[in-house]
Amino acid sequence: MQQDSEQRVAVIGAGAMGRGIAAVAAAAGHEVYLYDQDAGAAAAAPDVIAADWAGLVQRGKWSQSQLDAARRRLRPASCLEELADAALAIEAIVERQDAKQALLRQLDALLPATAILASNTSSLSITALAAGLRHPERVLGLHFFNPATRMKLVEVVSGLATAPALADRLCTLMRAWGKTPVPAASTPGFIVNRVARPFYAEALRLLQEGACAPATLDALLREAGGFAMGPLELMDLIGHDVNFAVTQSVFQAMQQDPRFRPSPLQQELVAAGRLGRKSGRGFYDYGQALPAADAAPSRPAPAVLRVHGGLGAAEPLLARLQAGGVRLEREPGPAQGWLSWDGLRLALSDGRSATRRAADSGHAGWAVFDLALDYASAQRLALAVADQAAPELAAQAEGVLQAAGLQVSRLDDAAGMAVLRTVAMLANEAADAVGQGVAAADSVDQAMCLGAAYPRGPLAWADRLGNEYVAQVLDALHAQYGDERYRVSPLLRRLALSGGRFHD
Ligand code: NAI
Repeated sequence: MQQDSEQRVAVIGAGAMGRGIAAVAAAAGHEVYLYDQDAGAAAAAPDVIAADWAGLVQRGKWSQSQLDAARRRLRPASCLEELADAALAIEAIVERQDAKQALLRQLDALLPATAILASNTSSLSITALAAGLRHPERVLGLHFFNPATRMKLVEVVSGLATAPALADRLCTLMRAWGKTPVPAASTPGFIVNRVARPFYAEALRLLQEGACAPATLDALLREAGGFAMGPLELMDLIGHDVNFAVTQSVFQAMQQDPRFRPSPLQQELVAAGRLGRKSGRGFYDYGQALPAADAAPSRPAPAVLRVHGGLGAAEPLLARLQAGGVRLEREPGPAQGWLSWDGLRLALSDGRSATRRAADSGHAGWAVFDLALDYASAQRLALAVADQAAPELAAQAEGVLQAAGLQVSRLDDAAGMAVLRTVAMLANEAADAVGQGVAAADSVDQAMCLGAAYPRGPLAWADRLGNEYVAQVLDALHAQYGDERYRVSPLLRRLALSGGRFHD
């Protein structure tokens, strides 16, 4: 298909996604057929789309005549045969393989061999959808995100039989539609739905371990991690039925790889009908005021702290401590060193729990703090204290972090803490996706920032932290839990050993 807008586009399925895709194609100048097995849905779609466009007119981004012209390009169709001269057909019908295969077979027979057949599936294999067609080489995935009119990302997914040049052509077309296309191979979850799994899974694990309360965990991921929403509130928004179904589907498609194992905690929520916001209750009860995150009470600030070496990624905390009136005395030590005060040693987590660190070092008074996206501006930080430490050391450690202007949320001593563990696992999954040829490192980071609104691409984040450090964190988690889910991706391991980076 040429990128010129003379070409007709057919959208099959006039639900939320189909309407959004049709709106994008019509706004780009194409005539768009809209077909739905529910004739009423197709007939009503142009009005629904035009109501959305009215907002553009109100904000001065479109003229009324632009709206009217685009509205005229939307053509509800009463049968599939009316789509026969489309150059591109995009299906956005129900997410069932049998239904999509049957539809694609009909389109394969109906449309000329030059026409392209695309699926907006979020979880099914493009290879499987194309199998058995006359022309499987013209089938690919165009995975738009919801709402399709506003979300920039489109995963352009090639199956085994997809013609090699097709993804490039469709990427060009998607750019002409104002989208940011990211090419990916047809593998379970494509990029975003795969790489995002640990964002939910690690939160569920931490809750299961009783590391902290839900509101505290969400606040840590937002206020230290820089994520727009915490994982638990996000699952409540998506709906636990939907999120659990995606997790199960990726787990099955990945041959039950333990990394993708669904959580019994989420299964229980689904069983109880606590589906999140839409049912009024999930992790939070939406019938009442939402709970606040835990924060330690105000503690005395130390006058002097010794800095042994550096603080690694957390180095900017030193300036905040000085600004808070703490005098720093520098002592030699490793780049990833620690702070000390009386019997306390405080460091950025290296993946080991504080208790493990105390046992390994023979020094009882260990406390560790969590990763932050930006230590210069973070508002909150998680703290964990070794079981061996004297009780007053916990208050001392809180006082140190408070002196840097931080709210301090205590975690029960969970290995890898909250943000660090999540980011290390996101980077590990992203590394596996790159290592297995699903997509390039740039594409993975771009997809996660645009499709999941991450504050930084997981691979860029790993590069910044140092891949050796990220692998060390994962090794510590692997040692702690003896769980295969924490095994280090072969690509991450190579970069960790060679000092390499995902991005130049
Ligand atoms: P929806 O349920 O809102 O709409 C589906 C529409 O397809 C309905 O109007 C239904 O009548 C029609 N339909 C079902 N079977 C049909 C058939 N055999 N022939 C013609 N029309 C048929 O669903 P939604 O949310 O728009 O999703 C559609 C597709 O987009 C699914 O494959 C879904 O996985 C995918 N998707 C959904 C996203 C979301 O957030 N909702 C995001 C990205 C992809």
